[in-house]
Amino acid sequence: MNTKQLEDLILQSLEHEMGGVKVYEAALSCAVNSDLKREWSRYLEQTRSHVSILEEVCRAMKIDAGRETPSRQIVRAIGAALVDGMKLAKSGPDPGAAEIVACEAIVLAETKDHLDWELLSQCAEHLPGPMGDTVKSACETVEDQEDEHLYQTRGWCRELWIESLGFASVLPPPEERHHVKTAIGAARAQQAAEKRR
Ligand SMILES: [Fe+2]
Ligand SMILES: [Fe+2]
Repeated sequence: MNTKQLEDLILQSLEHEMGGVKVYEAALSCAVNSDLKREWSRYLEQTRSHVSILEEVCRAMKIDAGRETPSRQIVRAIGAALVDGMKLAKSGPDPGAAEIVACEAIVLAETKDHLDWELLSQCAEHLPGPMGDTVKSACETVEDQEDEHLYQTRGWCRELWIESLGFASVLPPPEERHHVKTAIGAARAQQAAEKRR
């Protein structure tokens, strides 16, 4: 395993979770639907805990959590761009449009979040001793939450778009009602929504 690249992944993941807190704060200010607000408030708290968990991983692996890296700067810039996009949407005349912009921002952010933890989980298998145990237990805590963050917000995003286009929407989306945690489950939930239109 390329341990230098693993260190880079851990610092990118940490930066992304830190940015994720700001992305969720901005998204919550754009959310209109009360069920969606409740879900995102829960995800915001979980994202805050992911920051602490990754700081703990850094301690266990003797990585300086504050070390600046080129890739980290890019992750930070992309997070800031998502926040800027939501602020711009929120200053516009249509709260429904801003809510969709926020959904898209969350889907984009959670796509990387999901990938980061998938990769960390793969690396954990190859890390020896207590280091491996720390990363493994971090992944066990976080991975299910990341599945929910991605698949459920994707469902919200699709249904809010469909509603805005004037078609029958299924809200909250089936992904949320069925607590979808897999790609196959998400595909089934989407199919279930199509059948109900
Ligand atoms: Fe996260
Ligand atoms: Fe997440």
